[in-house]
Amino acid sequence: MNRKKIALIGCGAWGMNYVRVISQHESCELTMAYDTDRQKLNKVGVLSPQTKLCETLSSVYLDKEIKGVVVSTNVASHFDIVRESLLHGKHVLCEKPISKTFIEASELKKIADERNLILMVGHIFLYHDGINYVRDILHRKELGDLLYINFKRTGLGPIRDDVNVLWDLASHDFSILLFLVEQKPICISATAKTYIQDSIEDVAFINVEFENNIFANIHISWIEPIKQRVITLVGDKKMLVFDDVNLDDKIKIYDKGISYQTSNGDFGAFQLAIRDGEISIPNIKYKEPLNKEVSHFIECISSNTKPVSDSSGGIEVLRFLEAAQMSIKNGSKRMLL
Ligand SMILES: NC(=O)c1ccc[n+]([C@@H]2O[C@H](COP(=O)([O-])OP(=O)(O)OC[C@H]3O[C@@H](n4cnc5c(N)ncnc54)[C@H](O)[C@@H]3O)[C@@H](O)[C@H]2O)c1
Repeated sequence: MNRKKIALIGCGAWGMNYVRVISQHESCELTMAYDTDRQKLNKVGVLSPQTKLCETLSSVYLDKEIKGVVVSTNVASHFDIVRESLLHGKHVLCEKPISKTFIEASELKKIADERNLILMVGHIFLYHDGINYVRDILHRKELGDLLYINFKRTGLGPIRDDVNVLWDLASHDFSILLFLVEQKPICISATAKTYIQDSIEDVAFINVEFENNIFANIHISWIEPIKQRVITLVGDKKMLVFDDVNLDDKIKIYDKGISYQTSNGDFGAFQLAIRDGEISIPNIKYKEPLNKEVSHFIECISSNTKPVSDSSGGIEVLRFLEAAQMSIKNGSKRMLL
């Protein structure tokens, strides 16, 4: 098989994961890499000696052999790099969030669509076997009707200085939320605090309301002692907890709930009963999400098909981020979506 030639721009902490995955992938090869920081770039040479370490960005853009560009730089630089890559005819996989603003993201989508190029966003959880399992369960209504979802994404760092905790962490949760809840979002409100750096929020609490009385709460923080990656879904029949830090038993389904029972002999009178049933753990074979994401990018280039995490989804995440930021600015006001 003809392996697609891929270039990586941005070889920092997350970019090195792309180096490992792409350089070992059967459908593509890491042909070129570029980073403004030469020391970071040199590390690519250690892990993937066959990769050409570029001196300039234009050498990536101008190389006709390069079919796809993976952008894993700091968020502030995404727009310019993605734009130039697309204008030079490259398919792009850009890390989340796709850009700093909704308007920028919309412009990138327009450029990609006009040129019939793939523009995929690295919303990695859409390639997570656990999240896909949860989505199937919701489709099958195994939890009954969904009532609410609670997200916890906390830990100590990494603390960023180009974006706040929303753009960094909530971009994951919004992408998951939009993937799981297929109801129309109504409004969003958020509260955030800046404890460490001036004007860069490091802790936030976000509420999202959907049609049919579905509610979501997202708690994100860079400054908590324990790394938590937990999503709790409460349905009117069962409940589910997805704990991504747990290596094996990431998903637990609780046959628990509250139901109404007729009280003794008194028809028409009801009392609430707690149902405390079995806990089941589905047997899921988890594959590395980043590997699946890269495979999907290559498949989309080869077959000219729309990615699961396409630019429209990336734009929708930015719409949520901007509305949450606006709410923070306006004293946690509910913003219509
Ligand atoms: N999907 C995930 O789970 C996940 C996890 C972590 C980070 N990320 C995303 O990956 C991206 C990078 O994050 P990171 O943690 O690796 O950050 P990082 O700061 O460790 O690395 C960013 C790298 O980009 C380089 N860079 C900055 N501007 C550049 C430019 N104009 N041209 C070339 N190189 C440039 C920097 O020198 C640095 O090496 C961000 O978008 C972040 O949101 C995603």
